[in-house]
Amino acid sequence: MDPGSRLRPVAGPWALSVLQTHWSVRDLETWFPLAVGSTDLDPSALITAGMLSDLEPWIDAAAAQRRLGFAWTGDVNECSGTHRREAFAWLRGEVERETALFALALGCDLTRLQLHFRSSWPVLSQADETVSSHTHHGANLSAVYYISVPEGPGGTLVFENVGAPNSLGPEFGEPGTALTGEANPLNLREACYPPRAGRLLLFPARQPHAVRAHGADALRVSITFDIALVDRDAKPHPADEPIDALDLFR
Ligand SMILES: [Fe+2]
Repeated sequence: MDPGSRLRPVAGPWALSVLQTHWSVRDLETWFPLAVGSTDLDPSALITAGMLSDLEPWIDAAAAQRRLGFAWTGDVNECSGTHRREAFAWLRGEVERETALFALALGCDLTRLQLHFRSSWPVLSQADETVSSHTHHGANLSAVYYISVPEGPGGTLVFENVGAPNSLGPEFGEPGTALTGEANPLNLREACYPPRAGRLLLFPARQPHAVRAHGADALRVSITFDIALVDRDAKPHPADEPIDALDLFR
């Protein structure tokens, strides 16, 4: 095997040419990647309009409660349980199915897996509004669905590489430091997902993440879901209605 061939997906062009010529280490293996699921759903215009219409009271409330620079999030504004609302029945079904498939990909035994919605809420953001870095306590998996995304750059969901297992020290890789070289998947500090209407993202709930500001002069509307993954023999949470994962595929 070409000694540099394993580096093709990760090293930048200049680094790759040097490594292919001079590197004596034959293998470079990567471990413990973060899993982020992404799928583009295709709701009818009627379903999307129904969800937006159902959210109108909260959109009005958010407009009245705006805090400069901060997006309005339902979880801290007494607006949760979106998954129980009739207008969101289609989306709930999609989230259930994609959650089970995500869990399957991560090695969960679907014959034992039950899903419990812990909470769900809208996130409404105007231009220049952000969501600070946070994690979702009390859930195993979180999901974000973008209902409405205005034209324009920004508004990215940013996952932070807090563990940074490949960090070689503060002089290496920090922006502006002398040893900063080419960015590649082995030295990334963050992974960014731009918003897109109809897109569903799934990720481990404990993964720190934040939302950057968008520059459009319009409202971006998304829904966040917190879901617990539970062994079917475990004592159920009294507030939850469990969903057997296998029933989603019968
Ligand atoms: Fe979040």
